[in-house]
Amino acid sequence: MTETLLSVRDLRVSYKVGASRIDAVDGASFDVPRGTIVGLVGESGCGKTTIAKALTRVIADNASITGGQMMFEGRDLVSLSERQMNALRWREIAFIPQSAMNSLDPVYTVESQLNEVLRRRGGLGRREARKRCEELFELVGIDKGRLSDYPHQFSGGMRQRVAIALALALNPKLVIADEPVTALDVIVQRQILDQLRELQAALGISVIIVTHDISVVAYICDRTVVMYAGKVAEAGSMQATLTEPSHPYTMGLRNAFPDLQGAASGTLTPIEGAPPNLAFPPPGCRFAPRCPFVLETCRQVNPPLETVGPNHVAACHRAGEAVELRTQAARVDTWSGKVLA
Ligand SMILES: Nc1ncnc2c1ncn2[C@@H]1O[C@H](COP(=O)(O)OP(=O)(O)OP(=O)(O)O)[C@@H](O)[C@H]1O
Ligand code: SF4
Ligand SMILES: [Mg+2]
Repeated sequence: MTETLLSVRDLRVSYKVGASRIDAVDGASFDVPRGTIVGLVGESGCGKTTIAKALTRVIADNASITGGQMMFEGRDLVSLSERQMNALRWREIAFIPQSAMNSLDPVYTVESQLNEVLRRRGGLGRREARKRCEELFELVGIDKGRLSDYPHQFSGGMRQRVAIALALALNPKLVIADEPVTALDVIVQRQILDQLRELQAALGISVIIVTHDISVVAYICDRTVVMYAGKVAEAGSMQATLTEPSHPYTMGLRNAFPDLQGAASGTLTPIEGAPPNLAFPPPGCRFAPRCPFVLETCRQVNPPLETVGPNHVAACHRAGEAVELRTQAARVDTWSGKVLA
């Protein structure tokens, strides 16, 4: 059985906004096995970036981790001191932020930005750092002659590769990539994802890919964590969660995105409505206002995350009827705003 590198349990992260509190991550639990790619997927605002940032403990000033554990190789990242955490960033856990390709500093060459990590964080000397820069560019498929270029001299896809090179600079065990291919065209998306997969396999690292696009998960991930409104709706192997989903939200997401492989996909069916305002989440199941299979009990009782198969969990009162619900979910009219139950 694959060893677990990271185990997140009942993680809670809140933002304070004026007098109110937004529970952006409200009891999330999932595992990242060693040497795998895990996709953290869900619509905008469901808490993906908040989790990603919590894992590196680089959170906004108005954010706080209010509960739970993030066990990384026997250490709970929630309770490490800032100094311990700092020693671990880049060296063990590297984070590629959302819009990383636009966040490279425009006034420095990419080599000096790589050097910042290699020399200041990694303690490498000038020669070693130069050698490592060249290795890193080779790893991500960019000519080393371009190390002295400025970010604006690269295409969007190349800037994303530079961001990946930065993340890999100090040989981390876990790379967290927040929306690594959003804003790139489909061909470049595939190239970047293929490269991430090759690097992950060659280096034996684990990767968390944060994305709103379930087709990215289907294309590259080994495991899926589906988030909805601050909670994990479903998690498990890619095969189990995407081929045989047990949660209506996963079933809906699957219908809503085109296939990244370019295979002929049927009609895309959006999930009507929008996620709830996390300052005032609905009682019971948070997906209830949009779920075509909602029952009265769903509106009152929050469904716990329960085992529905080997290494497969889902939080739905009707998970036991998943086979029947999947058949109904495949029909376009199921999602037309008409509640079936
Ligand atoms: N600094 C902040 N202050 C207040 N609320 C915030 C802050 N950052 C995020 N939020 C709120 O927390 C929730 C989760 O945001 P988060 O950025 O984690 O979502 P996301 O899933 O990454 O979305 P996206 O796909 O748009 O990147 C949202 O309701 C968002 O408005
Ligand atoms: S618990 Fe009820 S409302 Fe929530 S996803 Fe399951 S069937 Fe739908
Ligand atoms: Mg985000």
